[in-house]
Formats: sequence, C-alpha cells, structure tokens
Amino acid sequence: MFSFTAFSARRLALRSEDMVVWLWLTLVTSAPLLWLVRDTDGMPDPAHRDLLMRQEASRQTGGLLTLTAAERRLDASLRRLKEQEMSAARFPPAVHFFKAKPLIERSSIFKLLQKMPKGAALHIHSSSLVGAEWLVRNVTYRPRCYVCFTWDNSVRFLFSARRPFPRWDCFHWQLLETLRARIGDAAEFDNSLIQHLTLFTEDPDGEYPNQDVVWEKFEKAFIAAAGLVTHAPVLRDYYYQGLEELHKDNIMYLELRSGLSRTYELDGTIHDKTWTLNLFQEVTKEFIKDHPDFFGARIIISVHRALSVSEVRAAVKEAIQLKKDFPDVVAGFDMVGREDSGRSLWYFREALSLPAELGAELPYFFHAGETDDEGTDVDQNVLDALLFNASRLGHAFALAHHPLAKELSRKGNIAVELCPISNQVLKLISDLRNHPAAVLMSEGHPMVISSDDPSLFGTSGLSYDFYEAFVGIGGLKANLGTLKELAANSIRYSSLPAHLKDIGLVMFQDQWDAFIADNS
Ligand SMILES: *[C@@H]1O[C@H](CO)[C@@H](O)[C@H](O)[C@H]1NC(C)=O
Ligand SMILES: *[C@@H]1O[C@H](CO)[C@@H](O)[C@H](O)[C@H]1NC(C)=O
Ligand SMILES: [Zn+2]
Repeated sequence: MFSFTAFSARRLALRSEDMVVWLWLTLVTSAPLLWLVRDTDGMPDPAHRDLLMRQEASRQTGGLLTLTAAERRLDASLRRLKEQEMSAARFPPAVHFFKAKPLIERSSIFKLLQKMPKGAALHIHSSSLVGAEWLVRNVTYRPRCYVCFTWDNSVRFLFSARRPFPRWDCFHWQLLETLRARIGDAAEFDNSLIQHLTLFTEDPDGEYPNQDVVWEKFEKAFIAAAGLVTHAPVLRDYYYQGLEELHKDNIMYLELRSGLSRTYELDGTIHDKTWTLNLFQEVTKEFIKDHPDFFGARIIISVHRALSVSEVRAAVKEAIQLKKDFPDVVAGFDMVGREDSGRSLWYFREALSLPAELGAELPYFFHAGETDDEGTDVDQNVLDALLFNASRLGHAFALAHHPLAKELSRKGNIAVELCPISNQVLKLISDLRNHPAAVLMSEGHPMVISSDDPSLFGTSGLSYDFYEAFVGIGGLKANLGTLKELAANSIRYSSLPAHLKDIGLVMFQDQWDAFIADNS
C-alpha cells in the first residue's frame, strides 16, 4: 500500500491535497468490502454473496422478468444446451459467421430460436432484405433481363425492352437468357451471379483482410442488386418475398431503411418516392391479408452520407413532407453508408436541424458509432445522434466507451440496434464473446437485435443474430428472460404510436405463450 502510494505519487506527481482526497476515497470505497468480511474466519458471508449475485443478475436485459413454471423448465433446458455448445471444440460465436453458419444450423438452441416469436426487425436495409438466392433464381429468370460485367469485375442488371445503351461503366449488355443458354452450365453460372450479390465466401479472412476490402465488396454488391430491385414489377414481389422471409422466422413487424430510389418500367417510365411508398403500403396490406398474424411494416427514409450538406438538407425537407403524406408508413430518417469513410452527423448539422427549425416532425434513427476508431469525429456520432434527439441508435458499437452518451441513451430510453453478425463480417470484432454490447446487456441497456443486411451476410430473419447475441454476447448469464425482453423491446422501441404498441405487445405475448406451451 505504501509503496503503491509512493509509486502513484511519483508517476502522477500528485499534490498533497490530492493525496488526502485519494486516501479518503480509498477508505470510503473499501468500507463496504470490509463489512462483507465476517470477523470470525475472514471468509465472505455466502448468503451475502448470493444476494449480490442475484442483484447483479437482475440488472441484465430481462433480469427483472419473473418466469412462469413452464418458462423456467424451458430456461433450464436452454441452459444445459448452452453449456454443451460452449464446451464444444468449435464455439460458433468465436468463429467467423461464414464458417459458423453450418454449426449454428445444427444447434438445438438455434432451432428453438427459429420457432421463438422475435417481435420486430428494426434495422434492415431494403436493398439486402431478400436472399441473393431468390434474386438470381427467380428475378434473373424473368424475360428481358440484361446483364453486363464491368471492368472491375462487378455486375449490372437492367430490364429493358431492347438492348440498353452503353454507359460509362457498362459497354456490353447481353440478354441473360441468351447468355445462359450459350454457357450451358446454368447452375454454375447462377452460383457465380449469387457471389456478386453477397459477401459470403469460404475464406472470409483471406478474402477480406481488412475493413476497406470488405466495405468495397459490400458497396459493389449493393450496386449490383440495384438494377434488379428497382425494376417496378420486381420491387412489388421483392417486398412481398422479404416479408415472407421475416414472417417465416416468426417476426411480426418491420422497420425498413430505404432510400426510396426511383423505380423503372420496361418502357422507360420512372416512378418517384411517392409511388414507391404507395407500393410499399399496398404490398404490406396484401401481406397482412394473407397472414393475419403479421402486424405491419414502415419505412425509415435513408440517404447516403456521401451527399453534400445542401443535398441532405433537401432530402430532410422532402422526408418531412413524405412523413406528412404517409404518417402510417414513414417512421423517420437516417443517414447510411460507411461511417469511417463518410461524413459525420455533426458535418450535416445544418441539414439535420431543419425539422426543429421548421417545427416539423421527423424522428431520427441514426447509424451512430459503427466504428472502432476511438476519438475520431465519427466516434463522436453517438453523442451527436443523441443531441439530435434520435429515437434509436444504429449499432452504437462505440457506445460502451462513451460513458456520458451511454447515460443519456439509457435515461432517454434510446435503444441500441445491435446487429452482431454485421459487426463481425464488417470486421469490427472477430470473437463475438468480446463484443462491447456484452457490457450493455449486462446492465440492461435499452436494446434490440437486428440483422442489418441479411442477404449480404447469408442470413434470413433474425434467428442467426439472436443466436450470436444469446449464446455468444450474453454467454451463460443470458436466459429465457433475456430473450423475451429483447423480443418485446423490438415492439416497445419501434416507431409505432402508443396505442399500436399496446396492440402489438398483446399480439406478441399471445405468440410467446403459444411458443412456451409448445416447447416447455
Ligand atoms: C418468382 O416469384 C413470383 C412471386 O414472387 C412467383 O409468382 C413466381 O412463380 C416465381 N418464379 C420462379 C421462376 O420461381
Ligand atoms: C431536441 O429536443 C429538445 C427537447 O425536446 C428540443 O429543445 C431540441 O430543439 C431538439 N433538438 C433537435 C435538433 O431536434
Ligand atoms: Zn445498417
């Protein structure tokens, strides 16, 4: 103690007043610890230890939920399964998802998570909503689909009544039907097309040595899919198929981030954002008619952070109007694209303060802190998102080491949208047991689980991300209460008005009760 004091004093050049404070603090903070020690044999009181452990566990996500007898039975069996998986030679959350995927698919916990009602998906981008498999095997087989391979080994698609004109990035357009017939091995060719639309690879570490490389492929895949998805007739089926994939994974509601890009018809007609919102609304209604246990879907209008301040200001203004025109469809606004290489929220402050300036309503759902570059302008996005009154934070990977922002987000009930597989594939973290959200989960920070870009990562629905969060990030400590809370949170922290949240939560509870009855 003495030598340590002398050491600290030398290193920190403490002044004597500081030293007094330090000694005082040491005494005060160690008092409860001393009290824990029984004076008989110096061993801490086991009953007190139990109490502290229970108190600590009660702070985690779902820690205050009381489980029913049936839920406790299921919880006990989940725990046994988790112990087994944690002691296996290859623990899936510690392995890159592309390698872990087959292991996860064999897991009994995963199979249970697939059946579990998961509430809402609140962070998915529209251009990666539907699996690449469907895009290639269904959409590219439609008539009049042209394909072109660019100089940088990327691919473009375009539906057109006649051969498209050459463009800067595409000189040689070929009719897919003709090309396929000429190539012969259609299955092999289709697999190569799928490769262009996803990040999936057998050798993720070799192929994506760093964040720059993986983000480059990421943006390329987005552009490749655009020509297919923005064809108006395709878009209609695409939304429906996307809702189908979510519903199959027991998800009842969606908030989809979309730029509402212009869509095109075969004859060259171009549709605007209003047309797209109408389409989205129609498809959602039709889907609910076919699946009465589905609750709905909304859009978070998103623009790329590569735009200029005046462009973003115009986009915010337009979004305010669209929110007025489609109050039940438009949830709010976000800025997308890689944060590390893009512009910070603070850079766009003049654009983003427009709603407050005009007294208009436009809730924000900002991507913020999807970075491991601590102390940069981008790292500051978490605090800035909160200063702009964001309703939720996308990723907020950086939040755990911003104590003040973390406090503000907790007090303001601003949930973090945790997308574990996205963070791993985009190389913010390799072993998911070390994800900073483990800290947030252990203290019950407002949080929901989502999948970000399912088609690019080769996932579908939310079960894969729930698996990583529950088994990897939460560890043995996360229990059935954690799962229930995370799922219910997705309704609670959605953009729905209070009366719809109430209905949604009742619907969720019914689904949950049926799930417990079937599986306990
Ligand atoms: C493609 O999907 C549509 C609806 O989404 C379906 O009607 C059609 O049969 C599918 N076509 C193929 C070839 O799978
Ligand atoms: C954020 O909310 C506060 C309190 O409601 C308000 O005073 C402020 O103008 C809002 N700021 C922005 C940028 O919307
Ligand atoms: Zn995202």
